[in-house]
Amino acid sequence: MQIIRALDALKPALAQLRGSGDTLALVPTMGALHDGHLALVAEAKAVATRVAATIFVNPLQFNDPKDLARYPRTEEADLARLEAAGCDLVWLPTPAQLYPDGFATNISVRGVSERWEGEHRPGHFDGVATVVAKLLLAVRPTHALFGEKDWQQLAVIRRVEADLGIGVEILGHPTVREADGLAMSSRNALLSPEKRSKAVALPTALHAAGKEIGAGGAVGPALERAKAALLSGGFSTVDYLALVDSRSLEPLEKPREPMRLIAAASIGGVRLIDNIPVTLEQQVGR
Ligand code: PAJ
Repeated sequence: MQIIRALDALKPALAQLRGSGDTLALVPTMGALHDGHLALVAEAKAVATRVAATIFVNPLQFNDPKDLARYPRTEEADLARLEAAGCDLVWLPTPAQLYPDGFATNISVRGVSERWEGEHRPGHFDGVATVVAKLLLAVRPTHALFGEKDWQQLAVIRRVEADLGIGVEILGHPTVREADGLAMSSRNALLSPEKRSKAVALPTALHAAGKEIGAGGAVGPALERAKAALLSGGFSTVDYLALVDSRSLEPLEKPREPMRLIAAASIGGVRLIDNIPVTLEQQVGR
């Protein structure tokens, strides 16, 4: 596995890697890698002949400086895991390489980025859109993989790719979960053992609400019950818990496929997000 730190070294390494006729799949990450990230690398290997990853804790997308300061950094372990997963190249840019003096461009996405995470983390999606566009343009992969765990992020990235005509196939990968159902996240490591065991209330509440709505239950009361379950189950705040159109992220008062339940809530000072698809049960019989 080639480890690239200098921008000058990236272009020749990529040219050599691509060879003639090879496809290249990119997995952008912020490091602190877990099995969710590695599932993206495995999928990348399945769709392309070559796989590259990036590790970059992107300051532009952190609206809270404390969150940036305490973001876990485990570079050595990350590199070992990427190598073991069969990654061909990893690029670790520095902030100065991606945002040189005078950097003044911002990619801002209307519509799909405005609600939910966009509302609760001002500037977050501008930072994501800008860095992902930069990474895709620097690496020029044929495919790029992102997790459904960050459903709204995936929708924003699809919009950027299509609007700017970057020419990369964006692929989403289903959320990888711990044995108890909690979505894997680099932030889970910040939870105390007690809060970690309670955090499972998040997927549990989403699944209960999803089942209720899928079976024809009223949306509003199902969402309220799920929020109450989080607050009584150890979460301190619920930023949002909503039923949304899977593509536009607009809230739905009545179920309409394709749809998802999305949520963000904090426990022990750690903000977690999750989402699940919801399908309507087929009404059998007359
Ligand atoms: P990061 O949180 O490191 O996640 C990197 C990729 O892994 C994202 O596409 C994310 O959706 C995916 N991922 C995280 N947890 C997952 C899980 N449990 N199952 C499946 N996929 C999972 O998301 C980012 O970094 C950044 O915003 C980035 C896109 C790299 C831009 O800076």
